[in-house]
Amino acid sequence: MTFSCINTAHPSPRSPRLLRLHQSDARAIRIELAAGLLASASSIAPKFLYDALGSRLFAAITELPEYYPTRTEAAIFRTHQNAIAAAMGKGCTLVDLGAGNCEKAASLFDALRPTRYVAIDISADYLADALDYLQFRHPALDLLGIGMDFSTAFNLPDEAGVDACVVFYPGSSIGNFTPQAAEVFLRQVRLAAKGGGLLIGVDLNKPSEILEPAYDDTLGVTAAFNRNMLTVANQLLGANFEVADFRHVAYFNRVESRIEMHLEALRDVSICWPDAAAVSSQVSTQESVRQFRAGERIHTENSYKYTPESFAALMRRAGYTRITKWTDADEWFGVFWADG
Ligand SMILES: C[S@@+](CC[C@H](N)C(=O)[O-])C[C@H]1O[C@@H](n2cnc3c(N)ncnc32)[C@H](O)[C@@H]1O
Repeated sequence: MTFSCINTAHPSPRSPRLLRLHQSDARAIRIELAAGLLASASSIAPKFLYDALGSRLFAAITELPEYYPTRTEAAIFRTHQNAIAAAMGKGCTLVDLGAGNCEKAASLFDALRPTRYVAIDISADYLADALDYLQFRHPALDLLGIGMDFSTAFNLPDEAGVDACVVFYPGSSIGNFTPQAAEVFLRQVRLAAKGGGLLIGVDLNKPSEILEPAYDDTLGVTAAFNRNMLTVANQLLGANFEVADFRHVAYFNRVESRIEMHLEALRDVSICWPDAAAVSSQVSTQESVRQFRAGERIHTENSYKYTPESFAALMRRAGYTRITKWTDADEWFGVFWADG
């Protein structure tokens, strides 16, 4: 799966509309980042992995031999596309959550023939490029991009003008939520779909010998993806992280059934930034400071792993009743469809 730039010698017939609902409140973002860093167990939310560079690094991760989720999920879509299309019906409005480069949804267009595609992502500039390219390849398709953060609550903005729709949530991004938060989120998704359905990809439990390299590859691309978060924090918060002072750590926490990613300080460092509550970092006179001892970690991502049964049970708790699942032969990954 490769994302290449649009050839400007052949511009797309029209540029898809992009609603930018994200980053309108820079102060709230600074306060959120500062609160996570200042906590005794320091953390940065995984959504901050995805600036334009982070999105490109993630696309590179999906090409790595160790990163089985993307190709396993794609193989499930390929193998079962007729059954998936039969379950979903053709001609839907497809709402893609965390669309990234939009390639996964695009791979289903032939089978699903959506009348409208609504792509939602926090990484709005990257999404804009992806949608331009998609419109070039599908000139007749009605496309809408929405740059927004759905980590705290999900509802489709009125501007999306969407009635019943199919929500597409691939890539096991649901694993970034705790199971309790995932249940709340999926309940919101079910309401937002207004009687439509949900097609969701979920990573399944497997030995840590397979899981851990997928999040700590030999080339160090995932390490770069994780450490790039420090440059994002520098940009958004005005902090003074030196990327070289932190190393990437990823391991499977068997008790919680989740991969954890952290950034570990290699030496004692003192990180400071202008008071996050100030209206603008330029006018702030106060500084916040967080000392990290060598070996101290910033928790940056969880990726929960489910069994087919435990994820179906979570969907039922979120209110879904009719659930169909497809997996690969090894049950490494699951695709679930629910329309009621
Ligand atoms: C793991 S990637 C998956 C990308 C693509 N859907 C796939 O399956 O390959 C997660 C995507 O969700 C987006 N994302 C992460 N947190 C988000 C949030 N809180 N709100 C909106 N989009 C988010 C990221 O920018 C990224 O494109």
